[in-house]
Amino acid sequence: MSLPLADASRAIDPSLDLAKEITRLKKERNAIILAHYYQEGEIQDLADFLGDSLALAQAAKKADADVICFAGVHFMAETAKILNPKRTVVVPDMRAGCSLADGCPADKFAAWRAMHPDAVSITYINCSAEVKALSDIICTSSNAEKIVASIPADKTILFAPDKNLGRYLEKKTGRKMVHWQGSCIVHETFSERKLIALTIRHPEAEVIAHPECEEPLLRHAHFIGSTTALLNYAISSPKREFIVATEAGILHQMQKKAPDKVFIPAPPEANCACNDCPYMKMNTLEKLYLSLRDLTPALEMPTELLERARLPIDRMLALS
Ligand code: 13P
Ligand code: SF4
Repeated sequence: MSLPLADASRAIDPSLDLAKEITRLKKERNAIILAHYYQEGEIQDLADFLGDSLALAQAAKKADADVICFAGVHFMAETAKILNPKRTVVVPDMRAGCSLADGCPADKFAAWRAMHPDAVSITYINCSAEVKALSDIICTSSNAEKIVASIPADKTILFAPDKNLGRYLEKKTGRKMVHWQGSCIVHETFSERKLIALTIRHPEAEVIAHPECEEPLLRHAHFIGSTTALLNYAISSPKREFIVATEAGILHQMQKKAPDKVFIPAPPEANCACNDCPYMKMNTLEKLYLSLRDLTPALEMPTELLERARLPIDRMLALS
């Protein structure tokens, strides 16, 4: 596979101080940067707002800047556009997808729903706008239990696309669900075997994990929650050492907010950096700068899709 050649019109003067330029462009464009915790530290440090998927959606909805620059992945920027369609939403790299969203194409999702006509579908926010538009209600990792509890007990729940989050919710809430068989390539990479070895070496450490992790790994967790919940737990816990089973970007914020504590990334099975999300890490300072300088790539979506996808997100926000 050959890489695309650099576009000369997108060249950057190498002498530029990008952090300074980004700050200048934010003012000039009346723009804000919303960033997820899985971004590189240097991007997190430039963000006006950092958060988990729910907090980012809420921030996008109330943003009154002309431009929202979304440093995250495609489905997050799409959600921002759905919730605030009048704003220009730019992304550093339009190709920054998500294995959960990619593994749940709208036509297959529609066929799956049609097989369960009386069921209610709760869909994790990590999906495309088309799939959102076909869902009854959206959830994130921080409000999923509340959303499940809002569904009448006699209704079958279809949960998509993350089978790991779905199984975790099933166990937590006692509600039976029909699961879409998707997973996150980052969270399924952690090795239970290596985690056990690590807990023996660090007997004082608490294991904290994201519910996208597989069940055998979650069994070792002292605390399970969204990225924001993990961060808050690590800050407020009296413990000093944590083994963190989620994407490694969050460690930047943990270290910043609790500099005296020790954060150890949970080990992947292979000797790789697979606990870095390859999609989240497509965003770089250079691309962030270009997106603000050129206001491209910008998200464009048909009005009809925006409106249909907004309904199940609004239902979620009303319960959050
Ligand atoms: P939260 O930040 O909402 O916990 O989501 C994690 C994630 O994987 C986002 O893609
Ligand atoms: Fe998707 Fe997993 Fe990356 Fe989150 S960490 S964006 S769920 S692939």
